[in-house]
Amino acid sequence: MATERLRVFSGIQPTAGSFHLGNYLGAVRQWVGLQETHDAVYSVVDLHAATIPQDPAALRESSRLAAAQLLGAGLDPDRCTLCIQSHVPEHTQLAWVINCLTGFGEAARMTQFKDKSAKQGTDATTVGLFTYPMLMAADILLYHTRQVPVGEDQRQHIELTRDVAQRFNARYGETFTLPGAYILKETAKIQDLQDPAVKMSKSASSAKGIVWLMDEPKTSAKKFRSAVTDTGTEVRYDRAAKPGVSNLLAIYSALTGLTVEELEQKFEGRLYGALKTEVADVFTEWVAPFRARTQQFLDDPAELDRLLARGAEKARAMAAPTLDAVYERVGFLPPAR
Ligand code: TRP
Repeated sequence: MATERLRVFSGIQPTAGSFHLGNYLGAVRQWVGLQETHDAVYSVVDLHAATIPQDPAALRESSRLAAAQLLGAGLDPDRCTLCIQSHVPEHTQLAWVINCLTGFGEAARMTQFKDKSAKQGTDATTVGLFTYPMLMAADILLYHTRQVPVGEDQRQHIELTRDVAQRFNARYGETFTLPGAYILKETAKIQDLQDPAVKMSKSASSAKGIVWLMDEPKTSAKKFRSAVTDTGTEVRYDRAAKPGVSNLLAIYSALTGLTVEELEQKFEGRLYGALKTEVADVFTEWVAPFRARTQQFLDDPAELDRLLARGAEKARAMAAPTLDAVYERVGFLPPAR
């Protein structure tokens, strides 16, 4: 008897152009692994990106680039479903129903919204940003998702998704599957190379702290060689006392599969400089095939678009029946056919 694979769904925003090493090790690499064990649906969430102003041409370009990098990283369109969110109109259609089911106060308690809107000021904050979590809930619920691989920062959004799903089911009858968060591994936590107290992110204070996968490998190697390390000389994993060294060890370990203990032994009696040089080399070697594969997809936009059209078709085949059931239960009059 074939055992049924659990459905997972996750999304990544197409905003930064190139992925950085934190995106890759923190999320994308685990997405690639999950397609072997799960029924995986992944989306480049361009609608979410539109919650802040985007240049139209740049947004289109970033969506293609994000898809190409996901494929370059190893997502296989025959083993998972990969789509661009805006290609599947059911996402926005379900999001409206979910907006109407979510309390204003409930949405206003989302900490990510509170943080971002406090930073930007309310006039620069769109209503789209406010309803971001409800669109995310729609993404998840459309596919009867069981597990949502995300970072810890998304946990509250998953809880909201469960709450509204339960509310819908209680009011209209069993319709949605309740999803759980599948919090991605802590070992994949990658910090800024210049400020190892904060995680690697595109809002980094210094461009030298962030490693972009699509940059020239020479540029990235230089960043590793000038990474901030700690006082002392011993290469040892200790996130509190040696955050810079620990971050480099975590990256080394993630890229090679060697354990941190094996690396500590390897660097016994050697100085921080040796570690930095070797991580730079390991990265350079690792990134070459990734860039080559990604470039292949970028060089053939017609083929890339064809893969994405097929992904959208597969996604719609799953999403449309869910939306139909929801519309029927909510009481929207079906159009005569
Ligand atoms: N909000 C997620 C993030 O910033 C991206 C996202 C959008 C997502 N829709 C999703 C993640 C659905 C998981 C499931 O990381």
